[in-house]
Amino acid sequence: MIVISFVLLVAIACSGNGDILPSYIKPCTLGDGFANCVKEQMITSLPYFTKGIPELNVPSLDPVNLDDIVIDGNGLKLSLKEAKLHGIADVDVQDLKVDIDEEKFSLTFIANMSVTGQYAIDGRILILPVQGHGDSTIKCDNIKVEIKSKLTHVNDAKGEHFKLVTPNYNYQIEKTTFAFKNLFNGNKQLADATHEFANQNWQQLMDDLAPPVIKQIVRTCVKAINKFFNKVTIDQIVLGYKPVD
Ligand SMILES: *[C@@H]1O[C@H](CO)[C@@H](O)[C@H](O)[C@H]1NC(C)=O
Repeated sequence: MIVISFVLLVAIACSGNGDILPSYIKPCTLGDGFANCVKEQMITSLPYFTKGIPELNVPSLDPVNLDDIVIDGNGLKLSLKEAKLHGIADVDVQDLKVDIDEEKFSLTFIANMSVTGQYAIDGRILILPVQGHGDSTIKCDNIKVEIKSKLTHVNDAKGEHFKLVTPNYNYQIEKTTFAFKNLFNGNKQLADATHEFANQNWQQLMDDLAPPVIKQIVRTCVKAINKFFNKVTIDQIVLGYKPVD
């Protein structure tokens, strides 16, 4: 999401469309200070972007709708539907690097995020039987995500554009807390015991649950970035850019 913001910032800053250029955005000039400039712009403007910019068809990024998640393995079936990711508005950008010559882009951020949705669970967490369905909240403390991507150039009739391709990513999560409503049809004693056990052994559940969630986060980012790269040429978004022949 941060990545999206970066692109938007730069895109809007330099698109020359005075009607939609927000005053808090300043263009970044190529050179030694480029990455720092972009990073600062991003941090300043992030709260604006996460709320969405209707004029530019930028959807609100907080919350983000997730595709359904279904896990079936190790004796546990768990599905999450109508899932939404919350917390992008408060991400903390740790690092951002843009190297146009080397065609490299990398971004690291930390955030406290949560996923809400309708869960259905049946099976075992390690040795403990678990069963239920209803509302759920999965709260993740200090998720750190690092995205690295190739920043390629593509041409069309309007000129040269950036495009992120083959993004890689990795992540770490400090701690996860689960809240599943209506476990065991509302049996409080069983539900309490299950929560205690699940929250102590959160890593076990997250080994299966986190990858599809993080994958969707990264995919959403990259898709949105590329949508915007597609709308602006490089010389519109990077001051001082000279095409490579
Ligand atoms: C996440 O929440 C914890 C506890 O409230 C806080 O110490 C930490 O700074 C937060 N992290 C971020 C990235 O906001």
